[in-house]
Amino acid sequence: MSHKHDDSPQTASAAAQPAPNHHASHPGFSGAGGLVVALSFLFGRTEAAQLAIRLADLQRGERLVDVGCGPGVAVRQARIAGAEVIGVDPAPVMLRVARARWRSGSAVDWRLGAAEKLPVADGWADVVWSLSTVHHWADIGAGLAETHRVLAPGGRLVVLERRIGDPGARGTAGHGWTAEQAESFAEHCRRQGFARAEVGVHRGRGPILSVVAWR
Ligand SMILES: C[S@@+](CC[C@H](N)C(=O)[O-])C[C@H]1O[C@@H](n2cnc3c(N)ncnc32)[C@H](O)[C@@H]1O
Repeated sequence: MSHKHDDSPQTASAAAQPAPNHHASHPGFSGAGGLVVALSFLFGRTEAAQLAIRLADLQRGERLVDVGCGPGVAVRQARIAGAEVIGVDPAPVMLRVARARWRSGSAVDWRLGAAEKLPVADGWADVVWSLSTVHHWADIGAGLAETHRVLAPGGRLVVLERRIGDPGARGTAGHGWTAEQAESFAEHCRRQGFARAEVGVHRGRGPILSVVAWR
């Protein structure tokens, strides 16, 4: 794993970089197709959840908001690690699968909502994370303003995205970020008032990009 520190001064280049939410126009997950996708998201996602726990330095008893939690694999891992968790997703089908899959022994607060208007009180969270989801956010500025609002001072934001080579790629090949999109998102974090934002690259089943930002 390599980890790159990025404290470079703000430049106009962020505006010129490819938007880190290039799938903002995705119609969302619903119906039978959405159910199939939700079920598929139950598999192969534990490694990313463990990476998020490590990058967030999530401690037992801390409060986490998972933005775009899908069917909740990462929420489940955070619960096992001893965190108190609110799982937020705009797709009812995702929350239905999450509630059914983790109905026993999980005590998770599942809430319908989106990054741009989080159903969470000001300053509630020690950690906010969003895994394989920011490329879908409708509005990066609104999502980051909401993230900043719900984080307590000193709280951490962790974002993970699969690394892709081409921001114009179609279908599943387009679900993720290029390195430039990760840098662009980190720049958005700094502009939103986060004290620091770092981009990292990690090797797992495939390359994963992270942005960690401190409120
Ligand atoms: C690829 S799935 C990832 C699910 C989960 N985080 C995981 O890693 O398994 C993307 C999720 O983002 C959700 N989503 C889409 N737009 C969103 C938004 N604006 N705010 C929050 N979540 C969103 C989708 O409903 C979907 O559950």
